[in-house]
Amino acid sequence: MALLDWNDSYSVGVATIDRQHAGLFGMVNDLHAAMMKGQAKAVLGSLLDKLVKYTHEHFAYEEKMMEAAKYPNLSAHRVRHRDLTKQVEEFAARYKKGDASLNIELIRFLSDWLTKHILHEDKQYSACVKQSGAR
Ligand SMILES: [Fe+2]
Ligand SMILES: [Fe+2]
Repeated sequence: MALLDWNDSYSVGVATIDRQHAGLFGMVNDLHAAMMKGQAKAVLGSLLDKLVKYTHEHFAYEEKMMEAAKYPNLSAHRVRHRDLTKQVEEFAARYKKGDASLNIELIRFLSDWLTKHILHEDKQYSACVKQSGAR
């Protein structure tokens, strides 16, 4: 069973964003599955890299969309994105250096921030960006 299951309760009402969020869920699930299977460090490292890269792309996309919609809470949202990115990047760097190990707590941390950020922060821009015509 997958760790994270995307369903409509996570929808922000913008199809592009929902697809990106589902993609992020998939990456966390892949990382979890690979860890459970005891895959090699190189495999886990590259899955982690993929997640970091996609997180960057998703946040940049979302920020552009909020900017275009003149979303009033953009700057606070941007700060949250920076914090989250920093945490994941730092972990990935430590993991590669051999200073950190990939375990269930880290996977839980990733799935937690992802779901909470969508439910509590991303959902707040929903009405504003929908009104601006984003899809
Ligand atoms: Fe966000
Ligand atoms: Fe998001």
